[in-house]
Amino acid sequence: MSRKRTPKWLQAARASDAGFAPGEKPDWLTRALARSGHMPQAEAQVAIRAGRVSKNGEVVREPMAVVRAGDEIRLDGRRLALQAATRVLLFHKPAGVVTSTVDPEGGGTVFERLAAVLPPGLERYGWHAVGRLDRNTTGLLLFTNDERFVAHATRPESHLPKRYLALVQGRVDDERLEPLRRGITLDDGPTRPAVAVARGPGEVELTITEGRNHQVKRMLAAVGLPVRALHREAVGELVLDVPEGQVRELAPDEIASRLGWRQES
Ligand code: URA
Repeated sequence: MSRKRTPKWLQAARASDAGFAPGEKPDWLTRALARSGHMPQAEAQVAIRAGRVSKNGEVVREPMAVVRAGDEIRLDGRRLALQAATRVLLFHKPAGVVTSTVDPEGGGTVFERLAAVLPPGLERYGWHAVGRLDRNTTGLLLFTNDERFVAHATRPESHLPKRYLALVQGRVDDERLEPLRRGITLDDGPTRPAVAVARGPGEVELTITEGRNHQVKRMLAAVGLPVRALHREAVGELVLDVPEGQVRELAPDEIASRLGWRQES
């Protein structure tokens, strides 16, 4: 049985007895600073603990301090705007790197690769990977400054399609693909109907609207087509259009029209 963890801001709010109004959406300090491009969360923690950050005229030394709309936040006495538009980066993940902040095996992480190619002006944001690609999967990986966008793009209810091209072992024919189109049962439950198309000998295009762990590999293995290589070509209406290892920032209208994102007011 899965138990929901209490979010960090709520733990901090309870500890400080902040007493929120119904519907109020408080935030926490490190996250707000990273989302609004002032400094990544790790750096924000250090600055806060060092006493460089104040809230409404008082020094705050608690990185998880609750921030509410209208709070006046200053860094070294300079007022910071914490309102942040949602920014989204489209990255072409190479093989060999993990979608995680550390790689004990030494192959490197997508965050290290991203940092090396970030466009000027975007270095001070805290970036979140939107979902996860396996180490040897290549292709389209989104990053965002806004964890609410991560939730939007990864929750199954958004039905955001993810299109993959898989190189597989075995003969690809309709008989094998048909169960994927109807939905099959994996060990963690049934899959939604997918779009499964034979693209050539040993090549399957599979479009799913979920993102469970190793889902594409597990689905194809379940119909007798073990995956040899996997590449993500598209997410939503967004098609990968940068060379391997490169990144570009999406325009706000792409985030809305191709990824179905509605910025909260
Ligand atoms: N499904 C997988 O099996 N692996 C990935 O990397 C992405 C989707």
